Amino acid sequence: MLRHKSYWETLVLCFLCLLFVLERFEGATTVPSEVAALNAILGRWGRTASATSSPAWNISGEPCTGAATDSTDIVNTAFNPGIKCDCSYDNGTTCHITQLDLNQNYLTGPLPAFIGNLTKLQYLAFGTNALSGSIPKELGKLTSLISLSIGTNNFTGPIPLELGNLTNLQKLYINSCGASGEFPSTISGLSSLQELWASDNNFTGKFPDFSRTSLVILRIQGNSFEGPIPSSLSNMTKVTDLRIGDIQNGSSSLAFIRNLSSLSILILRNCRISDIMPSDFSRFTSLQRLDLSFNNLTGQIPQSLFNLSLLSYLFLGNNSLSGSLPTGKSESLLNIDLSYNQLGGSFPSWVSEQNLKINLVANNFVISGSNNSVLASGLNCLQRDIPCNHRAPIYSSFAINCGGNKTITSSDGTLYEIDGRALSSASYYVTETNKWAVSTVGSFQDASNADYTQYSSSQFQKTQEPELYQTARISPSSLRYYGLGLENGNYTVMLHFAETRIPDPPTWKSTGRRIFDIYIQGNLVLKDFDIRAEENSLTAVTRKFIVPVTDNFLEIHFFWAGKGTCCVPDQGYYGSSVSAISVNPDFTPTVSNKPPSSL
Ligand SMILES: *[C@@H]1O[C@H](CO)[C@@H](O)[C@H](O)[C@H]1NC(C)=O
Ligand SMILES: *[C@@H]1O[C@H](CO)[C@@H](O)[C@H](O)[C@H]1NC(C)=O
Ligand SMILES: *[C@@H]1O[C@H](CO)[C@@H](O)[C@H](O)[C@H]1NC(C)=O
Ligand SMILES: *[C@@H]1O[C@H](CO)[C@@H](O)[C@H](O)[C@H]1NC(C)=O
Ligand SMILES: *[C@@H]1O[C@H](CO)[C@@H](O)[C@H](O)[C@H]1NC(C)=O
Ligand SMILES: *[C@@H]1O[C@H](CO)[C@@H](O)[C@H](O)[C@H]1NC(C)=O
Ligand SMILES: *[C@@H]1O[C@H](CO)[C@@H](O)[C@H](O)[C@H]1NC(C)=O
Ligand SMILES: *[C@@H]1O[C@H](CO)[C@@H](O)[C@H](O)[C@H]1NC(C)=O
Ligand SMILES: *[C@@H]1O[C@H](CO)[C@@H](O)[C@H](O)[C@H]1NC(C)=O
Ligand SMILES: *[C@@H]1O[C@H](CO)[C@@H](O)[C@H](O)[C@H]1NC(C)=O
Ligand SMILES: *[C@@H]1O[C@H](CO)[C@@H](O)[C@H](O)[C@H]1NC(C)=O
Ligand SMILES: *[C@@H]1O[C@H](CO)[C@@H](O)[C@H](O)[C@H]1NC(C)=O
Repeated sequence: MLRHKSYWETLVLCFLCLLFVLERFEGATTVPSEVAALNAILGRWGRTASATSSPAWNISGEPCTGAATDSTDIVNTAFNPGIKCDCSYDNGTTCHITQLDLNQNYLTGPLPAFIGNLTKLQYLAFGTNALSGSIPKELGKLTSLISLSIGTNNFTGPIPLELGNLTNLQKLYINSCGASGEFPSTISGLSSLQELWASDNNFTGKFPDFSRTSLVILRIQGNSFEGPIPSSLSNMTKVTDLRIGDIQNGSSSLAFIRNLSSLSILILRNCRISDIMPSDFSRFTSLQRLDLSFNNLTGQIPQSLFNLSLLSYLFLGNNSLSGSLPTGKSESLLNIDLSYNQLGGSFPSWVSEQNLKINLVANNFVISGSNNSVLASGLNCLQRDIPCNHRAPIYSSFAINCGGNKTITSSDGTLYEIDGRALSSASYYVTETNKWAVSTVGSFQDASNADYTQYSSSQFQKTQEPELYQTARISPSSLRYYGLGLENGNYTVMLHFAETRIPDPPTWKSTGRRIFDIYIQGNLVLKDFDIRAEENSLTAVTRKFIVPVTDNFLEIHFFWAGKGTCCVPDQGYYGSSVSAISVNPDFTPTVSNKPPSSL
């Protein structure tokens, strides 16, 4: 039975309560060494914390007031920089700073070592800035930390071993932070770690063993790790989102994924996996996205994979898969890349389903008769032996306004053709004239509605043809342009680029980096190419290559190798970009360079 409080009891309680609030208001003070450290950190960059009641924080006043102590959530709000305090220490007389958010401020210079004075910090974020110098080992003193974000910065040198002292750490974001060297085993062994983003650094040495962590999310693409991927990762049974990419050497097996049945995203792209494709995927009932492209998988495509009811993106391109396509397919599976394999046989009825995106370029399909109409036209030109006008060349030059709606004639008379087809996750297009073609695979992770072309009406610098740069085709994985039916000989390939979305400094948005590789005729011609490292934003950049055509066929391949930032200025903003291509012979052609007269 509830006992009703007496009048006096209630009054006394209220009075005590009021006293407590008054004391909090008047008396609770932040530990001086923390105030000093906070002032020094913010003052350094001329910043003021706006997590207090007034937007411009009184730097000599008490920081733990207003939004810093009430229920306001400082993360993802307008409070930037923002702090949160816990004033319950010493019976409500002492405040400690528990959260500090300095994300997206374009801070420069080193991160001061006295960050280590904020010893009660649980949440620390200074990602997406331009901080340089080494990552201070004093971060290892912040043993209450639950979440640490230092990603997208300009640091140099290794990740300090001392971060391994952060035994409460659950989330660590060090993607694109500039770090290099071996990945500390003290960190890969943190048992409380649940989420780690470590892509796009220059980590070297053996791929870390994360089997002792509690990882649910691991993103670790675009480094320089040596394979193999340790088989002990089979222990990470809680993982739902696993993205590994760009392993340098040593061949890996796929056996470790067998028991990782909670996965909803599995990306093991460009990992040197040499294995037979597993036949049974039925346990992966949560799987929505599977990318095993750019490996060396052999065997057949298992029907069990095509039966998964949640799987919607499947990328198996650039392996050595053989046999024919599965006869059945779940309704959800609408994006299928099987390009660059050894597949053949006849097409099952599902290939002509509406809304299905499927790329079957560079396989061994024989396209004729009844096969001819079910897929986008021109696939016959893009099989392994490229039969269109093969050994009977008719062309000697072409130019493309990549992603562009209109034909553009440049001042030198070059006609840049329209390339306006909407291509996305697994698509290709061959011109009616069979002169050139384009093929793209990959989907922008974390940006389901991302565009695969870009448009900017800006005035572009350093070019006579600014219109040529207004559109570009962009690709999150692999984008290839082909010249077909070309007379053999040496050609000059001119590639045109301009960065339109990542602005110039000083703004946090300028910390984005788009980095990709370019192969022509299978040879790497540009590695870690960064358009904006060459020129300012909205400025034309061109690259010229002399390449041989020996089999009536030219291939220009734009490839994302996991490098560059993932999420600046927006989530899912990365990958290759090209504005225009022109190809001209270095010899006097003997062919007409005109399509057959029937067209
Ligand atoms: C950090 O704390 C130490 C003592 O704990 C103090 O001597 C030093 O001044 C503090 N540094 C800053 C910048 O507040
Ligand atoms: C800042 O706060 C201190 C005391 O907390 C006060 O004396 C001072 O006048 C304030 N300065 C401004 C500019 O408001
Ligand atoms: C906090 O309060 C408890 C009783 O409520 C008291 O015993 C203790 O001495 C107080 N501590 C401080 C630091 O005031
Ligand atoms: C990054 O740091 C290097 C020196 O380590 C410096 O040359 C470069 O300008 C910095 N970049 C940015 C964007 O701050
Ligand atoms: C922190 O980590 C370093 C390197 O791993 C170690 O030498 C040091 O003893 C650790 N410090 C504490 C207080 O645990
Ligand atoms: C990455 O590290 C390798 C080996 O230490 C070095 O050769 C290379 O220049 C580094 N790359 C970058 C971008 O720092
Ligand atoms: C698997 O994880 C457990 C803790 O969950 C750990 O004790 C064990 O050593 C791990 N096994 C391997 C092979 O890493
Ligand atoms: C998967 O789990 C089963 C049963 O727990 C175990 O016997 C097997 O070794 C595991 N396989 C891998 C690759 O870890
Ligand atoms: C990978 O490369 C490193 C250094 O380049 C070498 O030490 C290592 O033996 C190589 N591993 C394999 C499996 O080839
Ligand atoms: C791929 O695997 C096959 C069979 O194991 C092997 O013959 C071939 O050399 C491998 N290719 C590459 C590029 O590793
Ligand atoms: C390109 O054409 C499509 C329709 O075909 C239109 O929706 C789009 O706005 C055009 N884009 C530009 C940049 O003109
Ligand atoms: C083609 O270009 C290469 C250099 O890229 C040159 O060595 C070769 O002689 C050229 N061939 C012809 C037929 O001009």
